[in-house]
Amino acid sequence: MNYDKFLQIFSIGTLCVLFSLMTLGGYVSSTGVGLSCPQWPLCPQGLIPSYEFLIEYIHRTIAATTGLLVFLTMVFVLRGRHSTKPTKLFSIIAAAAVVGQITLGAIVINEKLHADLVTAHLGLGLILYSSMIFVVINIFYTNVNLKSLQPSNLSSQDSDSRVSFSNK
Ligand code: HEM
Repeated sequence: MNYDKFLQIFSIGTLCVLFSLMTLGGYVSSTGVGLSCPQWPLCPQGLIPSYEFLIEYIHRTIAATTGLLVFLTMVFVLRGRHSTKPTKLFSIIAAAAVVGQITLGAIVINEKLHADLVTAHLGLGLILYSSMIFVVINIFYTNVNLKSLQPSNLSSQDSDSRVSFSNK
């Protein structure tokens, strides 16, 4: 598998994990279990939580995984030879947003689900999600463009115009 294809699969995988996390966040909020694990980073029971803490704990665990995936996406995008400037910029924004979001998640709990903070947690989550969508679409778009420039995909007319263009 070439690097561009790998980046395409990795970034869409990251977006899927992020989507699950946001959905689970909505479930944590609507079921009112946000404070079932009142400490950070671990619950009072330590690494293995009791059943009542499970949903909130899974939200935290997936958040940590998502943080790593979004950060790695940024590293891979920055190292990619074909990454465009906007893709790089938005991958950095997503990485910054994920750090902010995890920090904010901890503050939300410490401040006992203060409404302003929960709203900010939702807002920053949306910024993170939209930045990742932008990154994924850009990676796909760049790959499609690269494919169409491969010699086997150029019509003879295209190749002629490329030859005449390069001769100018
Ligand atoms: C990438 C990281 C994260 C994302 C994208 C995320 C996303 C979300 C979303 C979308 C909600 C629903 C908000 C709403 O319905 O108003 C939520 C709720 C919540 N999140 Fe996160 N979250 C992340 C990390 C964390 C972390 C690390 C913690 C805790 C340490 C945390 C604690 C909470 C809590 C307690 C709620 C429920 C708030 C309530 O009861 O109203 N989140 N999260």
